[in-house]
Amino acid sequence: MDAKAFQASSPEFVYRAWNLLKELNLKRDFENGITISSLKRKGIKHERMLSCMLDLLVGQGILKFENHKYYFVKEPKPITKEQFSYLQKHYPGSTEWADFVTARARKTLLSGKPPKDTGFEGEESLRLWDAIMQESPHSFRKMAIEKMLSKVKPNASILDLGCGGGIGLKTILQNAKKDIFLDGAEVSSEYLEKAKNQIKKMSGHAKNKLLKRNLERVKLIHYDKKDFVPKGKKYDAVFISIVLNHLIENQREKLFQEIKEILKPNGFLVVFQLIHQSKFERNPICWLMHTIPSHHEYPFKERHLKSIKNQFGKVKEHLNGIIVEASR
Ligand SMILES: C[S@@+](CC[C@H](N)C(=O)[O-])C[C@H]1O[C@@H](n2cnc3c(N)ncnc32)[C@H](O)[C@@H]1O
Repeated sequence: MDAKAFQASSPEFVYRAWNLLKELNLKRDFENGITISSLKRKGIKHERMLSCMLDLLVGQGILKFENHKYYFVKEPKPITKEQFSYLQKHYPGSTEWADFVTARARKTLLSGKPPKDTGFEGEESLRLWDAIMQESPHSFRKMAIEKMLSKVKPNASILDLGCGGGIGLKTILQNAKKDIFLDGAEVSSEYLEKAKNQIKKMSGHAKNKLLKRNLERVKLIHYDKKDFVPKGKKYDAVFISIVLNHLIENQREKLFQEIKEILKPNGFLVVFQLIHQSKFERNPICWLMHTIPSHHEYPFKERHLKSIKNQFGKVKEHLNGIIVEASR
């Protein structure tokens, strides 16, 4: 996901949110003004997803909120042809992914519970997820990784915490211009297996000597999510990408505290996290994420920065807080 794709896909997710409410025959209710409790009486059971959608639509000027009621203001604009072609070009599969999660969102909204599976299981859904998370030349994750790599010294030890299927590990290895000792840590054994295969595949193709050396030193660690971080080793840099939305607020605080403990004295942390700027300036993808059972909420910018500042003395934000660098 990069800034341009984010801009292009935002109207798409706003449009989908409003269309879903219309599909549930709620347009007339919004024209007359409706409260959250009346919406619940109409069979909308997933309150977190619902309030996320409503705040998003208020922020985008589609609805307004007055005297506890939500009122219809205007129809959202569909995605433009140019935006659509940008997404198709750089993220083929992203529309399929959006169709897939919108269908899940409909069920979740009406049943009150996300489906049992994560939505990332099985070849097909992993293929669709990879379609939106793949690394484009200006992806946010790649930018965060470049920031981290520009600061590490030769032979630095780096941890990608919650490395998932290893796309971040691959980007770190491809962009490292020095010798590094890279560890990837994951709570999900399925993801860790995927990361192992990713590294194996890279090793099979690597020609460059530095890349070969760095690949030989990669370690993949399985840890229990109760521990927040793998224990017993200290790092020069910790990188964490889109993990915080799987934790509740006090767990996020605890995580930063534990990261500080596994950093060497001059070590630093780089965080890439999709966030909400404020209640009505929400990330437009946020409501769809409630279809993932382990998802909680994207952090709100101010609280997100505060939880990092509570642990680290020097905190620098980039891209409105989407990327944060922190050190003691
Ligand atoms: C959206 S994926 C991001 C993966 C990878 N960092 C990336 O940038 O693509 C979120 C990752 O957080 C991991 N994770 C770490 N701690 C977790 C926790 N307590 N609950 C759920 N997921 C957790 C998941 O296993 C998953 O790999």
